[in-house]
Amino acid sequence: MGAVSVFSLTRTIAGLTLGALVLAGCGSSLGESGGSQSGDPSGGDVKIGLLVPLSGVYAPLGEDMRAGFELYLDQHDGKLGGRGVDLVTADEGEGPQTGVPAAQKLVTQDQVTAVVGVVNSATALGVRDFFHESKKPLLIANAGADDITGARKSEYVWRTSFSNGDVSAALGPAVAEEAKGSVYLIAADYAAGKEMVAGFRKGFEAAGGKVAGEKFTPFGKTQDFQPYLSAIRESGADSVYAFYAGAEAVNFVKQYEQFGLADKTSLYGAGFLTEGGVLAAQGKAAVGVKTSLHYSTELDTARNKEFVAAYQKSAGKPPTVYAVQAYDAAAVLDKALSKADGDSGEDLVKALGGVGSIDSPRGPWKFDADHDAQQTYYLREVRSGAGTAVNAVVGELG
Ligand code: PHB
Repeated sequence: MGAVSVFSLTRTIAGLTLGALVLAGCGSSLGESGGSQSGDPSGGDVKIGLLVPLSGVYAPLGEDMRAGFELYLDQHDGKLGGRGVDLVTADEGEGPQTGVPAAQKLVTQDQVTAVVGVVNSATALGVRDFFHESKKPLLIANAGADDITGARKSEYVWRTSFSNGDVSAALGPAVAEEAKGSVYLIAADYAAGKEMVAGFRKGFEAAGGKVAGEKFTPFGKTQDFQPYLSAIRESGADSVYAFYAGAEAVNFVKQYEQFGLADKTSLYGAGFLTEGGVLAAQGKAAVGVKTSLHYSTELDTARNKEFVAAYQKSAGKPPTVYAVQAYDAAAVLDKALSKADGDSGEDLVKALGGVGSIDSPRGPWKFDADHDAQQTYYLREVRSGAGTAVNAVVGELG
């Protein structure tokens, strides 16, 4: 433990937007995180917790989420629901051991009005009861754990991202149609990997696909995929479906190509396999990989082009699905806070139920009855563009 970092971002000073990032404290002597005394006639500043990984294999994903959330604030005078925002960031780390205490600290010590973030499915499952019982709204801006908007859904937990089952099942029929033989399934061994593989298998087998084998690799510990790549080769599979993200995705895709599998055995996956900085690091090794996801920088809409340009300008790199999910969480909070009767969890979740359609760079989406994002999934293929690889959008998945 002790991996809790707090950053304070106070953004409104006489109508100016200020992007100062101040290290407020760490460990047990956490400092107060910025003023809440804006004097805004609409009810003063609102304190929002951002719970994202700042350490571990998913740290780059957390960075993207923070950049997406901050871009929305920058584009809206630093305000949500007409109020200045005091953003307190805490480190989710690599899973629930760090993520649960960081969430508790945001709620009990920092007394935020709502928490946004959570990358890892195991963290989401670990914090669910805490938010439910403390009646504090949690907007999950990545973690896809199926139960969060299924068996364990809560009035206080909402998701602006996807569910593991949906994003992976969407790809199943397309692979069943394209693959000439059986498909090998491989994923990181934790909640998300298990659910991604199960979701893909469901969609794939229902469409007549055959599975050649299945393997789960130790999460956050596997750097050398060689033994697993040998097993894939020995299985005689025609294609592979994989779930990896962050640093693991970089290693898997690079080694897949180095091992000589890329030429003969088509690689498919959930879009996180080739997303953002991961794709930049994989370079040519990723060309030809096909994935399902609800976003691509290449979406040819005016809304997305405007977003890509703005994000590129503020973050100095192209956006990712993680950035979009957090940007949209800010949009959701903006709407909800402007409608809410007060700051209590009850007031806010009532308003969350009425936010309607979100005008997102991914395309318009809205919450379904279980608080999950109801949206279009795209089929993407990595192509090398002008010097850099991109996820070209090659179709929509049913
Ligand atoms: C998850 O744990 O739910 C998860 C993590 C990283 C991703 C996608 C899903 O890129």
